[in-house]
Amino acid sequence: MNGGETVIEVKDLTKVYPAAARLFGDGGREKLAVDRVSFDVHRGEIFGLLGPNGAGKTTTIKMLSTLLIPTSGSATVLGLDVVSGSVKLRPRINLVSGGERGLYFRLTGRQNLEFFSDMYRVPREAKKKKIGDLLELVGLTEAADIRVEEYSRGMKQRLHLARGLVNDPEVLFLDEPTLGLDPEISRETRALIRRLSEKGMTILLTTHYMFEADELCDRLAIISDGRIRAMGSPYSMKESVRNDSIIEIEARELGEAQKKELADLPGVSAVSVEFLEGRQLARIVVDDAPALIPTVAALLENRKVISIRVDQPTLEDAYIKMVNAK
Ligand SMILES: Nc1ncnc2c1ncn2[C@@H]1O[C@H](COP(=O)(O)OP(=O)(O)O)[C@@H](O)[C@H]1O
Ligand SMILES: [Mg+2]
Repeated sequence: MNGGETVIEVKDLTKVYPAAARLFGDGGREKLAVDRVSFDVHRGEIFGLLGPNGAGKTTTIKMLSTLLIPTSGSATVLGLDVVSGSVKLRPRINLVSGGERGLYFRLTGRQNLEFFSDMYRVPREAKKKKIGDLLELVGLTEAADIRVEEYSRGMKQRLHLARGLVNDPEVLFLDEPTLGLDPEISRETRALIRRLSEKGMTILLTTHYMFEADELCDRLAIISDGRIRAMGSPYSMKESVRNDSIIEIEARELGEAQKKELADLPGVSAVSVEFLEGRQLARIVVDDAPALIPTVAALLENRKVISIRVDQPTLEDAYIKMVNAK
């Protein structure tokens, strides 16, 4: 974006989880969770890792924030190797994961921040003001002295974010920051992330929400099955489907077999099917919709088709095309 200093440099980063003795019901096979991932993030950028569940996002962010040791490849953050430089690196970064864990529910919001400030050895004199400022920033000033167990989901998430800021990190890692939050709280959280970025913080976040990546990220990498499928600005991602069109079909008896047949047609680059109550909605990314409609219609002849229409591609379609790359 700003062509600025490189703050995160990732090269062929790989993580193989060792065979867990039958814990995962897969006969204890090892798992290649992150497969030779490479990317750079510049100072002040919001960079997103976008991908479906199981893509390897959390594994990647844990390796970059020194919580997990890579199997191979390398990564530096702020010029420090995430393995050999981890002790120096830790005070300068922070990680916020979504969900309920990592806070002390019996303590108040303020007490939680005091506890985490002490862990980072924030000096006594600075601590009180720092915590007051953070509570203000995340809108928890009035709830500061209430126990966290009384907090709503959104308040907990905001406290999580404040916790991630107690050490003034130069790089902030956010793992699915709006997962499970209601739309309004998600919106507030995104606004807060943007404010942090405007102050110059470098942010790497993961999400499986397309629109969130679109709205927040300067650049993003689309990741699935541990591999990066595409990288660029949200705008350039949309460009990649600009010359495609979409055939959208609603039917009553469309199954996995037809999905595969559609995907195998020449001229089709991706198919997604939403299975709804008693009907299915398929979106087919194609290079030439008018030319393909007869073939598609013939293929679905006995599938109780309700409608077929041509649509413009969205960022969602770009994403589906990249994640399902043939
Ligand atoms: N501790 C673990 N042991 C074995 N496999 C794991 C472990 N953690 C995650 N995995 C597997 O690695 C893959 C990537 O997981 P993860 O990084 O959590 O993906 P994401 O955050 O994108 O959902 C998944 O297939 C997951 O089941
Ligand atoms: Mg995850």
